[in-house]
Amino acid sequence: MKERCDLLIRNIACLVTAAGGKRGPLSNPKWEDLGVVENGAVAIRRGKFVAVGTTAEVESRISITPKTKTLSGRGRLVLPGFIDPHTHFLFVGTREEEYAMRVEGVDYLEIRRRGGGIRKTVRAFRAASDEELLDAGRRRLDSFLAYGTTTVEGKSGYGLTTEEEIRALRLMAQLNDTHPIEVVPTFLGAHEIPEEYEGRTGDYVRLVIDEMIPRVRGLARFCDVFCEKGVFEIEESRAILDAGKRHGLLPKLHAEEFVSIGGGELAAEVGAVSADHLLAVTEEGCAAMARSGTIAILLPGTAIGLAKRVFADVERMRRNALPIALATDCNPGSSFTESMSVVLSLACSLEGLTLPEAILGATRNAAAALGLLDSIGTIEVGKKADCILLRATHPAAIPYRFGTNLVETVVKNGLPIRRRRRPNLVGPTV
Ligand code: NIG
Ligand code: FE
Repeated sequence: MKERCDLLIRNIACLVTAAGGKRGPLSNPKWEDLGVVENGAVAIRRGKFVAVGTTAEVESRISITPKTKTLSGRGRLVLPGFIDPHTHFLFVGTREEEYAMRVEGVDYLEIRRRGGGIRKTVRAFRAASDEELLDAGRRRLDSFLAYGTTTVEGKSGYGLTTEEEIRALRLMAQLNDTHPIEVVPTFLGAHEIPEEYEGRTGDYVRLVIDEMIPRVRGLARFCDVFCEKGVFEIEESRAILDAGKRHGLLPKLHAEEFVSIGGGELAAEVGAVSADHLLAVTEEGCAAMARSGTIAILLPGTAIGLAKRVFADVERMRRNALPIALATDCNPGSSFTESMSVVLSLACSLEGLTLPEAILGATRNAAAALGLLDSIGTIEVGKKADCILLRATHPAAIPYRFGTNLVETVVKNGLPIRRRRRPNLVGPTV
């Protein structure tokens, strides 16, 4: 029997399903793994893909009813919606004065020592009302969506008291319920040592473990730690991630961003879903992560925010067959962007990723980095109908047209959302 469909996108010049090759997240992907179909089509029913292939194949498998909406893919590129697996999007206030200092050569950890950095955003977060935070969060999600992101991970970590961390996670749940984008929540109580615990890191770690983690159970999917020399060291990070696991939170971590202290190895040891940043990860760290199935999330936007021309050693990751995902790290300090396209430009042109690595890094491997590859990340029958139509006919156009948003229509759970044609005014998100 022919499948009925609510939405048909046909005559797509270039359909990138991201579903080629072996199943699962991929290391060292090749062009074939992008699963490109020329003159492609996708049919959607009740928010899921029900047929994917060439236009002729799809039209032979579905029945078009008067209720079927059709979209033309002529001259268009279609991709799975971008998945942004590492952001700190729920914040208020900006820190461009710190950026100005970094451009002049003062580094991130030095600004932190002078009382700026995360602690400045913590002060702003604590002072903000729920409405202010929801408004900032909603506008930022609008911007993610306009750039083609259909699922975004969001971390707490600007509250740093039990009640404020719970507030961050509750507000993200509220945004998830009321905005088309899916928000995947992560508890990051160990983002920074709050001012009131200065010099008492051990006491703060106990608070995170004994009080916060038991209370955020059910509100977050992941537990993350800013594992870095002078912030949360290896022992403290391990204790926090183990406690998270005991309360059903899957481990993730900010690892090896500035100094190599064994964060890659720790990620593997605790069975982390991902380890993120990794600018200083060692050969052993990469090998251990590959063995444990931990995904490397690269955040090349930090080269902009930190004004540092330092990138991850991608060759080392390839040698160790480590799957790579990409994310914006959207936050007011080290990387203030909602655009996965900009991240792709940085990844390909400056970090040295191939196009298949970058495209799968922003879709399929990013879904795996959230443990969601069964339902999103590729355009395949049975998956959630999240895809984007871009004004281009080749995937290279995305990084090539850096800073230009080629996304024209975003389909989320089968519902098309068209960007206003002219002028393209997605308001500022600050
Ligand atoms: O991933 N390094 C820690 N956390 C963020 C920065 C957050 C901030 O500066 O507000 C990061 O880069
Ligand atoms: Fe981060």
